[in-house]
Amino acid sequence: MKNIKRSIVAVSVAMSLGLLASSALRAADIDPQMKLAAQRVAVTTCATCHGPQGRSQSPKFPVLAGQHASYLIAQMKAFKAETRGDPDALGYMWGMAAPLDDAMIEALAGYYSVQTPGPGQRGDAATIARGADIFGKGIAAEGIPPCISCHGANAVGTDDFPRLTGQHAQYLLKQLRSFQSNLRNVAVMHGVASELKTPEMSAVAAYLQSLSGT
Ligand code: HEC
Ligand code: HEC
Repeated sequence: MKNIKRSIVAVSVAMSLGLLASSALRAADIDPQMKLAAQRVAVTTCATCHGPQGRSQSPKFPVLAGQHASYLIAQMKAFKAETRGDPDALGYMWGMAAPLDDAMIEALAGYYSVQTPGPGQRGDAATIARGADIFGKGIAAEGIPPCISCHGANAVGTDDFPRLTGQHAQYLLKQLRSFQSNLRNVAVMHGVASELKTPEMSAVAAYLQSLSGT
């Protein structure tokens, strides 16, 4: 646990210094032709699963609307490089990402990042309250850090951390499990999730799903 905590701190520091990542993408930087081409791909291909403007209906497919462009770019590149390896990533997204070049990836990320996310979904009040508590405070006794310290107030994220608000609980729960088992191999979230128990993951997922995406 000590090593895990140390790596969380190291990553947080690296991120706050801007060492990891992710130039903020400006819509104006994207070539207008490429913008149109990306819109076409989004509407004709990606929408089949991720829904119109990235507001997916099925909880198996993550909402993309309003997600930070830098995070979307990193994920598309991870699918393309076959490093994001949970079975659904492999089954659905490796093939989807394979033909996308960097310019198309950036344009698709730009497209989804400016779409308006949908409203939150209601759930069991006690479960949501428990989830809000974990999100805001972590669980000190189990060494779980507050999610809010990276994902931000109301879980809207930043250029370095994904937005989680309004995301499907089923998808979130599956990601937390994949971080825990390292099927989705990201050191910082492995450290966060490794001690989380299933009811705690479900509670925090229900809370995040309940938040309005906007
Ligand atoms: C056949 C269904 C399907 C299609 C079509 C599809 N996706 Fe996906 N996508 C998925 C699934 C399933 C996941 C979640 C994978 C997982 O559980 O790890 C996903 C995940 C993603 C993610 C990661 C989101 C996150 O929050 O981490 C991005 C980004 C993404 N897709 C972009 C796209 C783009 C861009 C296209 C069109 C080029 C596309 N997808 C087409 C099924 C699909
Ligand atoms: C030290 C910073 C940090 C903390 C604390 C943290 N996260 Fe994360 N989280 C990240 C990073 C970075 C990513 C992006 C991982 C990647 O690049 O794939 C992420 C990704 C996620 C994802 C995947 C989102 C998606 O769209 O697929 C979920 C779900 C998540 N975190 C939930 C949580 C929860 C719940 C907590 C609190 C129990 C938490 N995180 C605490 C840094 C953090």
